[in-house]
Amino acid sequence: MKFVRFIMKNAALASAPKHIEHFSKFSPSPLSMKQFIDFGSINACEKTSFVFLRQELPVRLSNIMKEINLLPDKLLTTPSVQMVQRWYSQSLMEILHFLDKNPDDHRVLAEFVDALVTIRNRHNDVVPTMAQGVIEYKEVFPQDVVTNQNIQYFLDRFYMSRISIRMLINQHTLVFDGTTNPVHPNTIGSIDPQCNVGDVVQDAFLSAKMLCDQYYLHSPDLVLQEMNHKTNSHPISIVYVPSHLYHMLFELFKNAMRATIETHENRNNLPPIKVMVSLGGEDMSIKVRQSLKCRAATFPVVTWIR
Ligand SMILES: Nc1ncnc2c1ncn2[C@@H]1O[C@H](COP(=O)(O)OP(=O)(O)OP(=O)(O)O)[C@@H](O)[C@H]1O
Ligand SMILES: [Mg+2]
Repeated sequence: MKFVRFIMKNAALASAPKHIEHFSKFSPSPLSMKQFIDFGSINACEKTSFVFLRQELPVRLSNIMKEINLLPDKLLTTPSVQMVQRWYSQSLMEILHFLDKNPDDHRVLAEFVDALVTIRNRHNDVVPTMAQGVIEYKEVFPQDVVTNQNIQYFLDRFYMSRISIRMLINQHTLVFDGTTNPVHPNTIGSIDPQCNVGDVVQDAFLSAKMLCDQYYLHSPDLVLQEMNHKTNSHPISIVYVPSHLYHMLFELFKNAMRATIETHENRNNLPPIKVMVSLGGEDMSIKVRQSLKCRAATFPVVTWIR
């Protein structure tokens, strides 16, 4: 039985290139945060989401698979990139299995949620696996600047595509799994309509600080300032995915802490990392500012999230 399933799986995978060719002709549909919120709250309809995703996910998977196919042959044939390609093909075929299924059948909708969870789990290690492929390739074939830039360009698009696919999968599975998040009951899927930016800054800073203390036995403090130019209310809150904001800040804080520590000999007297959260009429900016000591002078380094 296992053998038959194996043959069937391989037969299905063999037809993947034909489907990739077809679905990559469509462009992904852009979705705004407002659409996610509207869809996840007032208009939440599992059937509509199912019908949208069984077309949209193949489009997004196929588009990025086409880009993977354009990588240099020697990178494409590393075992890691081969594995990533197999994961993508298999996930594509699993979603295509729902193309001719009846959206009015509750069992189909439940099966679809299960399939999405399986796909999400399958792709958990895509980032380190792809990175491993690039490392293997670079070790064996030292690159010129242009190839390096091309790979960086591909990786940026690849990771962005992965975030968008996971966001779609997460929204569907979280909104339609029939439960509410016990810790954050007001979230809509992974989106917090009232994401408290200051809290996320503090969380990310504390995590980076813990790492920094472990490694260097010292760490700079945080000075946080909020400027709300939109409303008078404090603290500042926005409609956002808190985990995304957290990850961006965590990376920036690790960088800022390391640079601060490594440019200050007197580690008992480190300058703080200053963060300014500024909410305007249209958007929000976060400015992360650190002081670096370079010989006699001290100069600020500023990084932004907009
Ligand atoms: N805030 C900063 N101040 C000074 N130098 C920085 C700062 N942020 C980044 N850099 C420099 O840019 C390099 C690249 O940063 P990046 O975050 O991309 O990688 P990394 O910190 O070296 O590794 P990783 O983030 O993967 O742990 C750093 O190694 C450092 O030399
Ligand atoms: Mg870094």
